[in-house]
Amino acid sequence: MAIKTIAVTGKGGTGKTMIASLLIRQLVKQGGKKILVIDADSAMSLPYTLGIDISGSVSGLRHELVGPEQGRQMKRDGSLKDWIGGIVTHAEGFDLLVMGRPEEPGCFCAVNELLKYSIGTLAGDYDVVIIDGEAGPEQLNRRVLPKIDVLLVVADMSARSLATAGGILDVARAGENGIRVGRAGLVLNRIRGDEPNAEMLGRAQADVVGWFPEDAELNRFDRDGNPLLKLPDSCECVKAADKLLKSIFSEEDA
Ligand SMILES: Nc1ncnc2c1ncn2[C@@H]1O[C@H](COP(=O)(O)OP(=O)(O)O)[C@@H](O)[C@H]1O
Ligand SMILES: [Mg+2]
Repeated sequence: MAIKTIAVTGKGGTGKTMIASLLIRQLVKQGGKKILVIDADSAMSLPYTLGIDISGSVSGLRHELVGPEQGRQMKRDGSLKDWIGGIVTHAEGFDLLVMGRPEEPGCFCAVNELLKYSIGTLAGDYDVVIIDGEAGPEQLNRRVLPKIDVLLVVADMSARSLATAGGILDVARAGENGIRVGRAGLVLNRIRGDEPNAEMLGRAQADVVGWFPEDAELNRFDRDGNPLLKLPDSCECVKAADKLLKSIFSEEDA
């Protein structure tokens, strides 16, 4: 089965945006696939790491709609699709849809609904959809994504991030509420040393599908506000992203 949707989730600060950005870098470099990138994290850091100015966001669109009835009417007459097309940013080698921030504090419901509809509307036009997710299983629970072929759950080696990752994997495995996840696994980040050792793998308590090293070059790049897409091929995390992407797609060919 062809891999279409790859979602990157995990606790905040563990490296989701970094990993999503570098997977996008490698996919774009390979070429040949129409790529839709979705920033589904309200922190909206992906446009920065990708180095692009966005055309709009799902929450911005939500703000323009007068009320739910207008949204329903626009779904019926098809005009909502055109509006959604208008908030997609076209970049070199990929398109980007940004969820944005909720306008009412604490309530993501309406924005998540519209995000779900937007993904449903757009996804058919692309070969690969890659999602930088919210920090938790909420979006899985709300079924914003109809189907995830590969769910990557990022954890640094901290006990808390491993616990969050375990929770997300449990939600994915349970398959409740009609969530459909193909393959799910842990990606360990900020590994010091040559590779994760047996003690680390034991603590992970889940399938480890890839790992990224602690990378001073990447850290400096990010701190200085340089887009991660511009990192050189020699960067250790770029190499790790390449390896992870190849392993994801090699199972497709097998
Ligand atoms: N492997 C790594 N080596 C060095 N710095 C990293 C690494 N992974 C992430 N970072 C840094 O950690 C911070 C958080 O990463 P980020 O990808 O934004 O996390 P998240 O999206 O999960 O909140 C960023 O400043 C990033 O540069
Ligand atoms: Mg992030």
